[in-house]
Amino acid sequence: MWPRGGYPMEALEVSMDSEAKITPILIITCVLVATAGLMFGYDVGNSGGVTSMDDFLEKFFPSVFRRKLMYDNDNGSAYCLFNSETLQVFTSSLYLAGIIATFFASYTTRHLGRKLTMVVAGFFFISGVVLGAAAQNLGMLFTGRIFLGCGVGFANQAVPLFLSEVAPTKIRGGLNILFQLNVTVGILFANLVNYGAAKIHPWGWRLSLGSAGIPAFLLTIGALLVDDTPTSLVERGRIEEGKAVLKKLCGTDNIESELKEIMEATRVAQQVKRPFRELLQRHNRPPLVFAIFLQIFQQLTGINAILFYSPVLFISLGLGNDASLYSAVILGSVNVLSTLVSIYSVDRVGRRLLLLEAGVQMFISLVMITVVLHWHVIDNSEDLSHGTALFVVVMICTYIASFAWSWGPLGWLIPSETFQLETRSAGQSVTVCVNLLSTFSIAQASLSMLCHLQYGIFAFFSGWVVVMTVFVYFFLPETENVPIEEISEKVWKKHWFWKRFIDDDRIPKTSVTSA
Ligand code: BGC
Repeated sequence: MWPRGGYPMEALEVSMDSEAKITPILIITCVLVATAGLMFGYDVGNSGGVTSMDDFLEKFFPSVFRRKLMYDNDNGSAYCLFNSETLQVFTSSLYLAGIIATFFASYTTRHLGRKLTMVVAGFFFISGVVLGAAAQNLGMLFTGRIFLGCGVGFANQAVPLFLSEVAPTKIRGGLNILFQLNVTVGILFANLVNYGAAKIHPWGWRLSLGSAGIPAFLLTIGALLVDDTPTSLVERGRIEEGKAVLKKLCGTDNIESELKEIMEATRVAQQVKRPFRELLQRHNRPPLVFAIFLQIFQQLTGINAILFYSPVLFISLGLGNDASLYSAVILGSVNVLSTLVSIYSVDRVGRRLLLLEAGVQMFISLVMITVVLHWHVIDNSEDLSHGTALFVVVMICTYIASFAWSWGPLGWLIPSETFQLETRSAGQSVTVCVNLLSTFSIAQASLSMLCHLQYGIFAFFSGWVVVMTVFVYFFLPETENVPIEEISEKVWKKHWFWKRFIDDDRIPKTSVTSA
């Protein structure tokens, strides 16, 4: 899941499992490092809440504030509340900054190491949080948001790479999804903070933006405390240090075979001088297509639009001021718990089944929501009846649950396990860029779409769910339990469509890791 950098060395998925134990130091290291997921989740979950706070809107986005007042006085459309270009740019600037930062982070992960890249991310986060929480004008606010985006770019590049380099193969998949689990916990935390902060006038929004300091601080301290990965140390010629860390992580002095693998993998990966060019070769077409399409499809499920819009639906349940709290707790918990389902089942039932089942479930939920909202358009005084609104809430939960055990984690996991060793890092850079770009575009578009299509937006997303489910059915091969270095032989070559891209005479260069 997430990027492993734009350079061959970052692609190393060195297996450290011959003698390696799951040691306490390994677990502590991973827990510290995974706090970056909290930070990303907090950023994703935070902006929706802050941008609906009156004090915040009045200070920075007065036109949106006036519209909201009209809505509160039963005089405007709920769908068009947040349709403001500046507000959209505020939300999206984080993603744009993240895209640009990802490329710099590719460089730093290689030349400065994973650890230092995470420390850099932590400092970006802390600066962004301070600027945002202390913002006196739009300039400070936007700069803070851009810094946060840079933090996301650096952290999301280094952290998953770090986790996969220190994790034994047998728990690597689970660790990948653990990162997404942290993202969902971050979203939940942000929503809860928003709920409390919205009641504090006039500076609650500062508290809300400032609370991101907690995960930012945790990540920075964590990054300062952990050792760099053995792979990163060996890559930079610090072999003795690499050995020492390897012994510590594995809990044994017998690390010769792991060290040999790391050295060999380093050698092979360094032979590929231009991984991005290599990525464009015909035989790399299948994983490249998946990196791009899975990320675009993940956003076309409409998850972020739905997470954003749900509080309005909850208000119509008649929950009054507590609507957003219920929305945060219920949807946030469904998101977290269903991600746990994914961790449990992904290596048991496989990726395809999860995605296909979720496609059906998401389609039904979205169609139901469209039909119900078509009957009872939420506008002005036409509120939903209690029973109908409850039904819609159940459908939203059903939708979020299926997203959280399928497209949420698998949109990240599958690209990370289908690239060959020499292009894995470059491929992951593409993955994260496409994610940020499509999150950005769809976030921009969906607020306008919500305004113009109203409930039709759910129908729009349901159409895309059909497209992506058909795509999965015909084109996505099962990668469960297939060692990464055998993907080409065991997966692409056997697939009715992708086999035409793989040459028989191509010697796999990636046999340096053991399954
Ligand atoms: C997506 C985010 C989304 C989150 C929801 C992630 O996998 O990339 O865009 O907000 O899941 O849990």
